[in-house]
Amino acid sequence: MGLRSDPVACWVWLRLIRGVRDRHAPTRCPTLATVTPDGRPQARTVVVRATDKPAGTLDIHSDIQSAKVQELRATAFAALDVWDASAHLQMRLEARVTILTGQDRDHDLGGCA
Ligand SMILES: Cc1cc2nc3c(=O)[nH]c(=O)nc-3n(C[C@H](O)[C@H](O)[C@H](O)COP(=O)(O)O)c2cc1C
Repeated sequence: MGLRSDPVACWVWLRLIRGVRDRHAPTRCPTLATVTPDGRPQARTVVVRATDKPAGTLDIHSDIQSAKVQELRATAFAALDVWDASAHLQMRLEARVTILTGQDRDHDLGGCA
């Protein structure tokens, strides 16, 4: 995410960080959108597992065989959307995606409240 020192971006980061610790936080389970090789949009719910604000990264765990991973191998960009009803705020994020495997991968997908 860009603009990491921007006040609005900092506010969004605080909510993303909270979502990792709090399974009830809206930012815990954003919608992740990708695009298929033939240009069709795909969207699904995922869990944000970790954040690194200085690096500007979010970690999302998935099955390496999943459709989303294949789509991200072809087009390494994704969008995330979160609706925070209590804050009356929609957060729309754009991300460049790096796929990590092996010991970086956590098999526990966990869940949301
Ligand atoms: C509450 C919730 C959380 C989910 N979290 C993840 C997740 O962190 N990673 C994941 O790969 N799929 C997660 N899923 C399943 C995805 O939404 C999706 O159905 C699955 O990954 C297959 O998507 P794909 O075929 O587009 O790859 C979650 C589903 C729900 C309902």
